[in-house]
Amino acid sequence: MLQCKMSDVKVVPEVQSPPISQAADITAPAAIRGPSAVQIPLQLEAGRDRPLHEQISEQIRLLIADGRLRPGSYIPSSRQLADQLGVSRNTVLLAFNRLTSEGYIEAAKGSHTFVSQAYAKSSPPRGNVRATVEPAKSIRRPPVLFRGEAQQLVRPGRKPIFNFFVGRPCPRCFPHRIWRRLLLKRLASAGSSLSEYPPPAGLLELRHAVADHLGAARGMNVRAAQILIVNGIQEALNIIARLFVRPGTPVAIEDPCYRGALSTFESYGAEMVPVPVDKDGICVDRLPERAVSLVYVTPSHQFPTGETLPTERRVELLKWANRVGAYVVEDDYDSDFRFDGPPLTALAGLDNSASVIYLGTFSKSIGAGLRVGYLAVPMELAETAITVKSILNAGQSWIDQAVLADFITSGSFARHLNQVRMVYRARRNCLLSTLREHFGEVNVSGHQGGMHVMWHLPDSLPDALVVEATALNHGVGVYSLRSAVAFDFTQTPYSNRALVLGYPALSEEQIREGIVRVARALA
Ligand SMILES: Cc1ncc(COP(=O)(O)O)c(C=O)c1O
Repeated sequence: MLQCKMSDVKVVPEVQSPPISQAADITAPAAIRGPSAVQIPLQLEAGRDRPLHEQISEQIRLLIADGRLRPGSYIPSSRQLADQLGVSRNTVLLAFNRLTSEGYIEAAKGSHTFVSQAYAKSSPPRGNVRATVEPAKSIRRPPVLFRGEAQQLVRPGRKPIFNFFVGRPCPRCFPHRIWRRLLLKRLASAGSSLSEYPPPAGLLELRHAVADHLGAARGMNVRAAQILIVNGIQEALNIIARLFVRPGTPVAIEDPCYRGALSTFESYGAEMVPVPVDKDGICVDRLPERAVSLVYVTPSHQFPTGETLPTERRVELLKWANRVGAYVVEDDYDSDFRFDGPPLTALAGLDNSASVIYLGTFSKSIGAGLRVGYLAVPMELAETAITVKSILNAGQSWIDQAVLADFITSGSFARHLNQVRMVYRARRNCLLSTLREHFGEVNVSGHQGGMHVMWHLPDSLPDALVVEATALNHGVGVYSLRSAVAFDFTQTPYSNRALVLGYPALSEEQIREGIVRVARALA
């Protein structure tokens, strides 16, 4: 239902019909000029002793009174309503006149009619709606069987002025200009692509583009047939859990770990097996020597410590997976950004025994608002993974995939990554130097790449929760482990003595100002 303010109504501009492009369907109906209303549910009874116009006014009055038709919303024109109800226009006009005189509706310029704004003051609160079925005395509903915890990627409440929240790319780095150009080009030649369902596995061009990118950037030898385009890594995790996790299924996970992965596996009833993390990532020698279905790892940039898993441990991890018959779930969320030296080959690139399921995302490299990620699965899992994807949501938006495919294949993605990498490296340097300037020798991990660092607090500073609260009072968001969408099963050196700082979304000036404020607040 269209909503608008009174002030909008008085100056309703005539909506210009867009020129019909060459590619447009010439049988499409002409665009309706001006504001339009949705059809409203009125039912007339011809045999009733009340005249039709009274039935119409009575029902519209009720819709307005019980809050279904909100103040400011348009109602269909008398012509449209007469057509919809199969009555004469005069009948509808009689009803409209009555409602206008009672103050329920108003006419705007042209033939547009809307629910009176004045009604807003006296209208009952939403929810006080007319009951159509009398509630039974006692209703027994099935119990809700799911009790999960969300990972809180969107933080409710007070927004700090200088926000070092994790995993946010720089909003000003989004490639707006080129995106707009590619979008318009694709829209102009879309044909029926927007009215058809896209293939559930993703657009073939994009799957090819991702496979090529993974070969060059991550050393992986994958075919397009192994790639699924998904709604971010979060959906990829759900697909994997659907395939392998039932109540009681053992799943090994880093401790501390990414909350989003943990919540997903737990929501399917997994028995979580925490494995400690040290300064080289997951302690492979602490993995259980028993049948475990999956192990979830973040080897490029351990979440949240930021450590990189060295090659020897990668090899040991793959050997372990083959020994116990587990799949390794490699979450490579921010590996596009490596600042000091070349990136290590992905685990999936070292794997010759089809034991790695690889997860990647454009949330960090382009923007989380796109909600596009990808899953590279061993060939034998591809078909069932696609079935799960189609059950979950029947595929990603065609237009987003098409633009993204063009963005990658035109070379713009590689250019974008190189430019953004330089910006982020400068911001990381700025963060580290400002921390040193104000806190002396700082112990930081994860600064070699990715989009956040972990600051291991010196003894002179209070616990992370205290620093977090103090900083917030001074307009700065710095995050203790759990506030940074991480989870620790056991008390670790990181639990309350480390802060997670994301920096790409802040300018160097903001980074400096934010850290100065924290230093002053703690002084
Ligand atoms: C370790 C890790 N994996 C995955 C994600 C989310 O990825 P996506 O936006 O593709 O769902 C995040 C987000 O911060 C993350 O930190």
